[in-house]
Amino acid sequence: MTFLFNSDARRGAIFAEAFGKELPDLPFVMDPATVDPDAVRYLITWTVPENLDRYRNLEILFSLGAGVDQFRFDAVPATVKIVRMIEEGIVRMMQEYVTLGVLALHRNLPAYLAQQRAGEWRDIAQLQAGSRRIGVLGLGQLGQAVLDRLGPFGFPLSGWSRSPRQIEGVRCHHGELGLKEMIAASDILVALLPLTEETRGFLNADLFAKLPEGAALVHTGRGPQLDHQALVAALDRGHLSAAMIDVTDPEPLPAGHPFWSHPKIILTPHVASVTQPATAARAVIDNIRRHRAGLDPIGLVDRSRGY
Ligand code: NAP
Ligand code: GLV
Repeated sequence: MTFLFNSDARRGAIFAEAFGKELPDLPFVMDPATVDPDAVRYLITWTVPENLDRYRNLEILFSLGAGVDQFRFDAVPATVKIVRMIEEGIVRMMQEYVTLGVLALHRNLPAYLAQQRAGEWRDIAQLQAGSRRIGVLGLGQLGQAVLDRLGPFGFPLSGWSRSPRQIEGVRCHHGELGLKEMIAASDILVALLPLTEETRGFLNADLFAKLPEGAALVHTGRGPQLDHQALVAALDRGHLSAAMIDVTDPEPLPAGHPFWSHPKIILTPHVASVTQPATAARAVIDNIRRHRAGLDPIGLVDRSRGY
């Protein structure tokens, strides 16, 4: 039985140390050229390797990231469990990023940055937190964690998911009708949905038109969920006030793309949240222990839902 690590050596060294201490009976290999393919039971990777079928006894395919849209499910045998990354580093960083984005948009930072560049000293009417409604698309591990961190600021909080949820202090919506209700009442919309066939192109002109006048967007899901042109059009006509964007399609964003220089957009290069190797290694080790004990791993992907 072997664990195969398919990523960079720096992270690999941290994983190797943790595995050596916690699972000394499980050989840890970083070089696929030196591994006996039949011995590989667990593989961790960002993307599914071309030659996955050589690992005939694979039991779990771990994603190094929280998202699994980069995996082609049809290339993974049905007997192999696909497990996404749930670890405290990713969660903490997403809480920081979304809090940064919500506060920046709440306190009109893009407009003040534009005024600074123009040498303009002028205050902008400031809404109080109790009147700024925040809506979060996606109530999974990250959406819930972000709402938890935003709670103390006093914003009215709502969230939307596929299935009904109950979260203290959060107005929870689900389904089509729930989406309509939440969008109409979100002054800052936070997008934290996984990329699936249902969420591709989700942040589009139609959705933007249903947001209240002057609403703003924080997008940290996946690039292909956002219609770039529709966002620029909604910002340019003033219906939306600003956006903080972490993910785009394609990545990296090509030179000359309007997001680079748009005065109402704050852009970051897909860094909202990054897997932290020490905590990620612990999470994977726990999951291997669960698997050995006959339990489902935490973060098991439901292939039929796509996340
Ligand atoms: P998760 O735990 O799987 O939660 C996904 C949430 O989205 C769930 O609440 C789910 O509803 C909801 N959802 C999915 N499809 C839906 C649909 N069609 N309609 C309504 N709700 C839907 O995922 P997570 O760990 O929170 O991560 C979310 C995404 O964040 C990841 O997939 C990844 O793309 C992105 N991400 C980005 C970064 C970054 O650095 N920018 C870092 C990490 C992750 P149910 O609760 O009903 O299932
Ligand atoms: C990063 O985007 C992740 O999915 O972890």
